[in-house]
Amino acid sequence: MLAPQGVVQAAAQRGPGNEPRYRKVGYLMLGLLTTATEQISKMKSLDPIAKQVSSWVSKATSPAAVKNALSGTWLDHPLHPMATDVPIGAWTMATTLDVCGGESTQTAAQHLVGIGVLTSLPAAASGASDWSDTIGKNRRIGLVHAVGNSVGTTMQVASWCARRSGRHRLGVGLSFLGLGATMGATYLGGHLSFARGVNVNHTAFEAPVRKWTDVAAADDVTEGQLVRVNANKTPVMLTRHKGQLRALSATCVHAGGALDEGHIDKDCVVCPLHQSTFRLSDGKPVRGPATMEQPTWDVQTMDGRIQVKSAA
Ligand code: FES
Repeated sequence: MLAPQGVVQAAAQRGPGNEPRYRKVGYLMLGLLTTATEQISKMKSLDPIAKQVSSWVSKATSPAAVKNALSGTWLDHPLHPMATDVPIGAWTMATTLDVCGGESTQTAAQHLVGIGVLTSLPAAASGASDWSDTIGKNRRIGLVHAVGNSVGTTMQVASWCARRSGRHRLGVGLSFLGLGATMGATYLGGHLSFARGVNVNHTAFEAPVRKWTDVAAADDVTEGQLVRVNANKTPVMLTRHKGQLRALSATCVHAGGALDEGHIDKDCVVCPLHQSTFRLSDGKPVRGPATMEQPTWDVQTMDGRIQVKSAA
């Protein structure tokens, strides 16, 4: 672990020596956040509690309707990043009114704090559901992200109570501290998505294959069997279902699970990692945590060989 002095030095080295002071402060804060995140990701002491809480959340969200609702499967988009915008926006506006508004905006600021608290509930529930599908470093960072958000929300609740009982200054201070905790937690959430690829589409960078490409002998794919092939280096899952050849990208959109290691359930394939369930005919997820369609491939048989190309 870097000593505080080491962190400062590392942060100071990020920019040229003649940078203005405000930029150096920015580099220093970025260095601190980066180092703290790195340290959190290595804290194995968090694993027992993370594992226990994660198993409780997994159990609570296991019914398909609950998982679909919290993941955003019904939206065709992850719910959590959208759900967090409302409380963060409300609390930011409340603090803006506290700083820039006068006595006439105190009631509006109090309402904004309350709206933020209420809308943080679905944001937290969707985040917990997403987090329960992570492991290792991502699960540790996600746990601290959740704790930071809980601290921030608790302070906003206390702020609302203080404002309602006429202790406006105390309420303003609590909101300010709460927003700070939320911002720190938000950094970790962004790190999970943008640096560690949690809940991003794992097929986003697959290059489409425009021409029919030979991938297997027709006899190699029997009814109900899941076969992995490559079409110009892109892994594709082939199966024969009710006599018809079907092909989906083999890499699960949710977190990169291998669909060819899953199983068929009715007219769908089930991912072995977190049980996302995709229709074989069009790749649509009928059970989360996946929220986006699994890419489908056109299939044809020519002279006893199977050919595929990306669906238009
Ligand atoms: S990787 Fe999570 S459901 Fe497939």
